[in-house]
Amino acid sequence: EKGTYPHFMLKEIDEQPFAMRKIINEYQNENNELKLDADVQMAMKAADRIYIIACGTSYHAGLVGKELIEKLASVPVEVHVASEFSYNIPLLSEKPLFVFISQSGETADSRAVLVKIKEMGYPALTITNVPGSTLSREADYTLNLYAGPEIAVASTKAYTAQIAVLAILAVDTAQAKGLKLDFDPMQELAIVANAMETLTDQKEAMEELVTNYLQAARNAFFIGRSADYHVCMEGALKLKEISYIQAEGFAGGELKHGTIALIEEGTPIIALATQPDVNYAIRGNVQEVIARGANAMIISMKSLEQDTDAFVLPQVHDLLTPLVSVVPLQLLAYYAALHRGCDIDKPRNLAKSVTVE
Ligand code: M6R
Repeated sequence: EKGTYPHFMLKEIDEQPFAMRKIINEYQNENNELKLDADVQMAMKAADRIYIIACGTSYHAGLVGKELIEKLASVPVEVHVASEFSYNIPLLSEKPLFVFISQSGETADSRAVLVKIKEMGYPALTITNVPGSTLSREADYTLNLYAGPEIAVASTKAYTAQIAVLAILAVDTAQAKGLKLDFDPMQELAIVANAMETLTDQKEAMEELVTNYLQAARNAFFIGRSADYHVCMEGALKLKEISYIQAEGFAGGELKHGTIALIEEGTPIIALATQPDVNYAIRGNVQEVIARGANAMIISMKSLEQDTDAFVLPQVHDLLTPLVSVVPLQLLAYYAALHRGCDIDKPRNLAKSVTVE
């Protein structure tokens, strides 16, 4: 039930710190060490390449998961939109492991791929919020998201839970392969949970940003580089899905190859700057759009903060920034939709779980 919340979406945004803590508890042993099912660990170790298959927000979580698995566990990862993969199967490696990411575990496009790859004899792991779901039953292994039921059509807490579980999977694989990590993953996730709480306490600031940047907007662009780019795609999906403002997430460096032609006086641009390696470059991209009249805001990580930034995120580990940078974007979408009087929990033309191909 919604309790005192006006919408499930807002409640579910607020539940993210609890979901993080639940995941930390469920995936550690009594010595506070990370633990995963031994079968999952063996399957990850045996794979020469991981194929992540998902749709929508779960696909966006997969893009972040690729970074985590490749950087921490040194296993190559491809991320595919399920509806594309099933009709256009790419050249596969010798020992693939398929990882299906699905909040509901019932998405027909993802299931179509699962059926095909099982026929081909390949192993499959499903990461889902619903352990008894079709994708969970039909795969060899399941990892639970422990996010609790997600009711709003717009996915929020499932996205962050998916990234957290993918981080745990990446760390577990790294440890199984004897790779050394220079941080304690559970401690870093606990820092994330606290940071999320700080962010969900700052709703007024988010509503004000909506007033200043999105109030009369017909369209909006989210720009970022590396991990921020993936979060920008998710921020854009959230905004268009519930507020019907046309929105796109772009790689900062790609703007000048076409999209910058759309920038007019007052076009809202939301830029993420959480990654030290690309901080200078993304800020350069923001200057380029401001020079063309854009109404641009920068959401930055604490360690990269500059005076003119519209909003500053509490510091978390560089690899885990998507878990916090997405929260203001979820809230921006929420308040933009609220100000427009949209049906937030049940946007037009959409269903919570898409059970047709
Ligand atoms: O249940 P799933 O994670 O498989 O669903 C995938 C997409 O349909 C879903 O993420 C959709 O994009 C959401 N409405 C996004 O908020």
